[in-house]
Amino acid sequence: MDLSVRDENLRELMDDADCDPQRLQATLRRFGIVNRMISGWDTVYRTRLRQILRSLPQPARVLDLGSGGGDVIDRLAHLSARDKLHVEWTGADPDPRAYEAAVARQIPGATFHCADADALLAGGEVFDVVISNHVLHHLSSSELMHFTAASRHLASTAVLHSDIARGRLAYGLFAIGITPLAPGTFLRTDGLRSIRRSYRPQELTHALGAPWSVSSPVPFRLLAEAPGRA
Ligand SMILES: C[S@@+](CC[C@H](N)C(=O)[O-])C[C@H]1O[C@@H](n2cnc3c(N)ncnc32)[C@H](O)[C@@H]1O
Repeated sequence: MDLSVRDENLRELMDDADCDPQRLQATLRRFGIVNRMISGWDTVYRTRLRQILRSLPQPARVLDLGSGGGDVIDRLAHLSARDKLHVEWTGADPDPRAYEAAVARQIPGATFHCADADALLAGGEVFDVVISNHVLHHLSSSELMHFTAASRHLASTAVLHSDIARGRLAYGLFAIGITPLAPGTFLRTDGLRSIRRSYRPQELTHALGAPWSVSSPVPFRLLAEAPGRA
């Protein structure tokens, strides 16, 4: 597998509006385990988000843009509640199938919208912090610039976008590690395609430019951070 160049033309199976609905729902549900294993949000919470939330008037407002089945909010809501932080969590995803899966999770203190960033901006919404997980690699170059700029306009304090860092080791380990979780889902095919579509840190740094900074808080991951400008 040649991973030297991003494969921007690969489409993920779950992005097909006509994909098998049962497999899609199983994929969205199982994102919870996969994200706990690979996405590093516990580390991002401990090293960044918790400090930001503690510095804000309560309740702090956090938006997960492209929230899928809501599992990242579910985990972060659990972590912040353990730290006795009062946070209003909002998830937004333009895909109605993802929105329905997120609502079905019934996460206390969380609200979901079937909407993209433009709709939220048009509605005058403002949050303290905007986050995303596994959205950046989905986007075309122009969509990436639009999504990241819009995320800054929606956030008054900080933006944190987390994604996969493309690499051979990540690809090989994911191909093996996902095997027990993959049956009945799109996780294997879409996960490997996601890695092939993902950025390397220097590529994302170059694509986003100032004031974004891109780091790798845990192995095989990227975190793009910028101040909010709402
Ligand atoms: C791989 S899923 C990740 C879902 C979730 N964040 C997670 O990590 O489990 C990518 C999600 O991004 C959403 N998405 C794609 N383009 C988007 C955009 N321009 N704005 C907001 N969400 C978008 C898709 O609908 C999809 O639910």
